[in-house]
Amino acid sequence: MIPSVLPTYSRAPLTFVKGEGSWMIEADGRRFLDLGAGIAVNVLGHANPVLVDALTEQAGKLWHVSNLYNIEQQQSLADKLVATTFADTAFFTNSGTEACELAVKMARKYWNDKGHPERVEIIGFEGAFHGRSSAGIAAAGSNKLTNGFGPLLPGFAQVPWGDVDAAQALISDKTAAVIVEPVQGEGGIRPLADSDLKALRAMCDEAGILLIFDEVQCGVGRTGRLFAHEWAGAYPDIMMVAKGIGGGFPLGVVLATEDAASGMTAGTHGSTYGGNPLACAVGCAVMDAVTEPSFLDDVNRRAGLFRQKLEGLVAAHPDVFESVRGSGLMLGLKCHVACGDVVSAGYENEVVTVPAADNVVRLLPPLNITDKELSEAVSRLDATASQMSASLKD
Ligand SMILES: Cc1ncc(COP(=O)(O)O)c(C=O)c1O
Repeated sequence: MIPSVLPTYSRAPLTFVKGEGSWMIEADGRRFLDLGAGIAVNVLGHANPVLVDALTEQAGKLWHVSNLYNIEQQQSLADKLVATTFADTAFFTNSGTEACELAVKMARKYWNDKGHPERVEIIGFEGAFHGRSSAGIAAAGSNKLTNGFGPLLPGFAQVPWGDVDAAQALISDKTAAVIVEPVQGEGGIRPLADSDLKALRAMCDEAGILLIFDEVQCGVGRTGRLFAHEWAGAYPDIMMVAKGIGGGFPLGVVLATEDAASGMTAGTHGSTYGGNPLACAVGCAVMDAVTEPSFLDDVNRRAGLFRQKLEGLVAAHPDVFESVRGSGLMLGLKCHVACGDVVSAGYENEVVTVPAADNVVRLLPPLNITDKELSEAVSRLDATASQMSASLKD
């Protein structure tokens, strides 16, 4: 009999009932150190008092109002994002997938309104993940996502990860845009080299096409800059953001330059819940925290410490781990053993990690995790790896 919750996830046998900072408490009372943060969502940890206050204060005032009216919290959050990024304008969504939908629509509408309705094609990269909607799976293109869901939305193609020349070769007079995650998350914590990101920008400029960054997973301080592309100094025309921006409350946003957004006039797009007062009140509190002068310095310092300890972990367990990769607090342990087994064995040691493609265990802790918690995390991963090594020898 089908479970009452549609079984699209194979879930771990864990039920978390409470969160405190970097810790999640299981129904049986065990305390798990959270190195997943809901897959890069809880940037300020669980039950952060500042976010709880922002949400509860707003909850006592106004939960929902239609986008037919001005929404103060939405305006404030848009102003903060415009002030701190490349963008001139923002549209709020409830998820990364919805941000992908709009990014695709925006790119196509841009060309339509410039008199080139034939420019609809979007070039992406293998291993990408842009969400589970029809546009999202078509943009990523992998069989794992698209199998059985045809006919796919047409107009998408993928080139091997990081292959700028292959992207260049695909550009034609039908191309609307290139879409890329500066650091692939689901694809296995694979950062694009700064030089490649710059080359993509130069390529798009030369061809006169739009560049879309998907920073749903790597954005909002995750890599030690507000957005990952800032490390390369290569800026998009359109950017998808979600996950961290709501700190755990469902919120996404598409950011764009004035030119890229020029086709999106009144009536061309909308959302009942997107940019609602609750989500945006929390989003404002997240933005205020991550743009505090010392916040990203602390993330970078912690990331350096964590990475150093993880290099030691890999060196100590060469039969389990191959290497550490990633950027900031978006790190991956490439494994010799099955990454899913490492994640499951971690549960025995009360540490939560997340599997990814390319046999990588993702480490995406809250950005405000303490040094002590990071040390504790590494000792739990060490215990996990020791158990796995022992079982390999059995
Ligand atoms: C890079 C990227 N884009 C898009 C999405 C889709 O976001 P959501 O699950 O909020 O729809 C994800 C989710 O993992 C993601 O990692």
